[in-house]
Amino acid sequence: MGTFEVFEPNHPEFDQTETDNKQHNFIFNRENLAQYREYLTAGVDIVSQTIQDKSKPFSGVTPHELAEKFAAVDLDTPLSSLTDTLDELKELYLNDAVYFHHPKYVGHLNCPVAYPSLLAEQILTAVNSSVDTWDQSAGGTLIEQSLIDWSIKQIGMGKNADGIFTSGGTQSNLMAMLLARDALVERLKPGYSTKERGLPEEAKRFRIFTSQASHFSVQKSAALLGLGYDAVVSVETDDLFKMDAEQLHQKVLHAIENGFIPMAVVATAGTTDFGSIDPLNAIADICSYYNTWFHVDAAYGCGLLASPTRREKLNGIERADSVTVDYHKSFLQPVSCSAFFANNKKHLEVVTHHADYLNPLCAKQEGTPNLVNKSLQTTRRFDALKMWLTLRIMGKDQIGQIFDEVCALARDVSKVFVQDRDIEVIHEPELSTLVFRFNPGPKLSLPESDLDHINVYIRREIFRTGEAVISATKVDGKRFLKFTLLNPTTELHHIEDVLGMIKHFGYQCIDSLKTSNVSASI
Ligand SMILES: Cc1ncc(COP(=O)(O)O)c(C=O)c1O
Repeated sequence: MGTFEVFEPNHPEFDQTETDNKQHNFIFNRENLAQYREYLTAGVDIVSQTIQDKSKPFSGVTPHELAEKFAAVDLDTPLSSLTDTLDELKELYLNDAVYFHHPKYVGHLNCPVAYPSLLAEQILTAVNSSVDTWDQSAGGTLIEQSLIDWSIKQIGMGKNADGIFTSGGTQSNLMAMLLARDALVERLKPGYSTKERGLPEEAKRFRIFTSQASHFSVQKSAALLGLGYDAVVSVETDDLFKMDAEQLHQKVLHAIENGFIPMAVVATAGTTDFGSIDPLNAIADICSYYNTWFHVDAAYGCGLLASPTRREKLNGIERADSVTVDYHKSFLQPVSCSAFFANNKKHLEVVTHHADYLNPLCAKQEGTPNLVNKSLQTTRRFDALKMWLTLRIMGKDQIGQIFDEVCALARDVSKVFVQDRDIEVIHEPELSTLVFRFNPGPKLSLPESDLDHINVYIRREIFRTGEAVISATKVDGKRFLKFTLLNPTTELHHIEDVLGMIKHFGYQCIDSLKTSNVSASI
């Protein structure tokens, strides 16, 4: 591994020419390709070595312990060699990072990443295309557009559909609500432009309907769009944690009777906690009857688009006015890699702004494809390349099969857990999450407050060991544990190990409660 020298502008023998050259050594260009190889190889080496040495997904470090190591860092003074810098990085970051590739990482909606996407990351970062305009990306624009067209075909939207890569599901859901809001304003007040004139008086009465189990980005979007959390009407879910379509109908009717105006219904295809898929066709029927925007948040469930055996679970998605897809959840892509789709491309014009220096109207008229015309962002990463290389190397079927495998694993895990008298499972997995809690049940008949305490304890202690990472949620105010299975290398025996830890810490906590003889509350 090579070293770099410290740049000392105030040194008495300071030679301007020489220093300029030294500075330029850091610039990625034709002259410095040896540096390029050296740096990237060093990066690959240190990551490979770390992964090789890692036997568990996390070190168990606490924020306090790690923060102490940062105290000595002086960001004004660079280190003297690449080796020192990477050693420091290992100490401050790599040793204690949370590793999603590990089979016992079953925490949040993070997938392990596929090699073609890592190759793409490396290429797209070096070239550094910005896919806002053709004149900053050229072929990159066409690659992204091809991926958009491909995804539209998988969703089953029509020829008029279009889309754009986004930073994630949160941004896609925001775009959906923005388009829905402005489409409604346009319908209520033809010729009135929200973009130009801001919210009309009627907007106070706009209502968005979404299930209790949907993602919080729906509420956040309502707030950002000037509608407020109050604009979001929560629709109850059924026993399977899917939106109850009859309840939805009643809530829409009730809202209309009370002078409110339905703006959108947000259905979730793969809720964050339960993986449940709302009844898309029934919701589409209600939306079309009331002429209301139908958005499908398929941030998680989008993996089904490639599934060879489960695709029908998404039936009805093709009727959506807009769809959110997170390739970084279910298509083995690194963060960020996501997209938003609108069934009628004209609605995307609400985010169009022509700037003379960047994307003038005349460029559009000449047919120049400037993707910024349909994006909330201006400078934008060429994330589409990751999906491109993944499809070109692995192909759609392999990705779909992997999503199928993790869904099947969740079913198998559920069967084991249902049989276990220490575990209470509260749903049958529809995708690849499982929500459950440690509850030795009738044999101990623990009060709810103790069960909450024990389950919080279990998660915290497992995290502290670093041997596994699981997540948690609340259902009806009670604390539950959650597995999110997105890694095809996770096998039943890994989960059985985690189950062993859950019981170990569960009974340990019960013992300590008995000893202290307190029903701890959290
Ligand atoms: C159903 C759903 N929608 C949207 C989001 C937000 O996606 P992102 O984290 O990519 O912004 C999530 C994240 O977990 C999600 O589960």
